[in-house]
Amino acid sequence: MLEAVRLHKRYHQGELDVVAVDHFTYAFPPGLTAIVGPSGSGKTTLLNLLAGFDVPTEGEVRLDGRVFSSLSEDERAEVRLRHMGFVFQQWNLIPTLTALENVAFPLMLAGQSLRERTERAQALLAAVGLEKRAKHLPSRLSGGEQQRVAIARALALDPPVLFADEPTGNLDSASGARVVELLLAQAQGGRTVILVTHDLELSCKAERVLHLRDGRLTRIETPSAGLTEAAQSL
Ligand SMILES: Nc1ncnc2c1ncn2[C@@H]1O[C@H](COP(=O)(O)OP(=O)(O)OP(=O)(O)O)[C@@H](O)[C@H]1O
Ligand SMILES: [Mg+2]
Repeated sequence: MLEAVRLHKRYHQGELDVVAVDHFTYAFPPGLTAIVGPSGSGKTTLLNLLAGFDVPTEGEVRLDGRVFSSLSEDERAEVRLRHMGFVFQQWNLIPTLTALENVAFPLMLAGQSLRERTERAQALLAAVGLEKRAKHLPSRLSGGEQQRVAIARALALDPPVLFADEPTGNLDSASGARVVELLLAQAQGGRTVILVTHDLELSCKAERVLHLRDGRLTRIETPSAGLTEAAQSL
């Protein structure tokens, strides 16, 4: 279980202090949680704190009851590799590696043999419908295909927590729907999926929608009807 406890992030911009995340407390249950809010409300900062890419000014992030946010950078990277996967809006993939090599990359970091990781990466690419694109470089893939490769890579080490920051932001609606379907399937399989989105239609599919405003958690919605609909469409 991933938990944020009075998580607070302040940035100094010259003379100005910007509070990006303001004493945010929430325990993320398994399933899909969407985070919504206006531009600048702190959504990306919150994901970066939860994933340990950034450290809070105050408060803490706990993973399975252990404080994660106060570990060293190297320790956080190690925990992240094993426990968390990421899909961002863009710049997801390493441009000089093929689709297969991108998916296999975290497996290499985890010390798997070439054979092991190639087999696993092929299976993951097949699961997102891209087995025929294994040898393509990202620049030879469509935006939607790149996002599906990014999802395959995020799932490589079977992490219990998956983060997605506007993963459909650059996609047409059909490719976006495919990406969403993959994320929903992960949530329904028991993973904790945390999704930042501007897309209301998409956030309705979440079990919980957290509303952020000026870095504060202002409202929690549970659009359960949307979940049933999403479950039926799979
Ligand atoms: N590295 C930084 N240094 C200073 N201020 C920052 C930094 N990163 C973010 N901020 C500020 O923190 C606030 C929250 O930014 P954040 O990127 O988290 O918003 P967001 O909700 O993701 O917005 P968007 O929907 O536009 O992506 C903004 O006011 C932003 O200017
Ligand atoms: Mg953002």
